[in-house]
Amino acid sequence: MPPWAPDTVVPDRSYGATSPFDDLPPVVPVRYETCMLKGAKVGLRARYEDDIEVLRTELYDDVVNGSRAEGRPWRPMTPDSKDPRLVVDDKAQGLVQFSAVELDGETLIGMATLYDIDTHHRSAHIGLGLLPSCRGMGYGTDVVAVLTHYGFVVRGLHRLQIETLADNAAMLRAAERNGFVREGVLRSSSWVMGEFLDEVVLGLLAEDWNPNH
Ligand SMILES: CC(C)(COP(=O)(O)OP(=O)(O)OC[C@H]1O[C@@H](n2cnc3c(N)ncnc32)[C@H](O)[C@@H]1OP(=O)(O)O)[C@@H](O)C(=O)NCCC(=O)NCCS
Repeated sequence: MPPWAPDTVVPDRSYGATSPFDDLPPVVPVRYETCMLKGAKVGLRARYEDDIEVLRTELYDDVVNGSRAEGRPWRPMTPDSKDPRLVVDDKAQGLVQFSAVELDGETLIGMATLYDIDTHHRSAHIGLGLLPSCRGMGYGTDVVAVLTHYGFVVRGLHRLQIETLADNAAMLRAAERNGFVREGVLRSSSWVMGEFLDEVVLGLLAEDWNPNH
């Protein structure tokens, strides 16, 4: 780790200003390492060339997952697809795409995105998808924690939002474990594999965020 990379994040209060985080413990669990944000179980890093084939075949080729998680109809991807969900455009504004890896061994476990970043309203949306073999092991909850840290601390945002299908118990729980609250239900808003399903909108404000939640 380079000498400038802090092991833990200690908010700088030397300027004497107040902040929504003043009442919170000074140390948060997300750590920085070269090119990676680290949570308790997962790391978020840039998309590597080798990730693309794995994400395409294990995540985006899955018709059911694609139809449920993407908010649009599934369609097949060609092997050399330059689909922007896979091939990251580093210059794109309003969107930051990560690959998610296990901390132990740095095996790819999925993708994580901060999207619709609005620098006027200082808000953004969180999206994530894990490879089927990596679900149900606490990684999703940790990915939300790291993306939330990135949104509030690194990007200085004020509000983060997650939308998910009302029957996506794991996503709802992963969001709520990080302090997101249910703000509303969009009734029959999503056409998914032959039926209309409700979608839940969850939000978290910077001042309500407790990184040790
Ligand atoms: C949704 C998703 C990101 C959640 O990540 P995950 O790693 O599987 O979830 P976690 O292991 O962190 O579990 C979170 C909570 O949900 C619970 N949970 C996990 N899988 C569950 C399931 N299939 N049914 C009900 N609860 C479940 C866990 O027990 C945990 O609850 P706890 O905190 O009380 O122990 C992941 O399952 C996924 O990628 N799914 C497919 C894509 C998707 O739905 N993306 C979200 C689109 S908005």
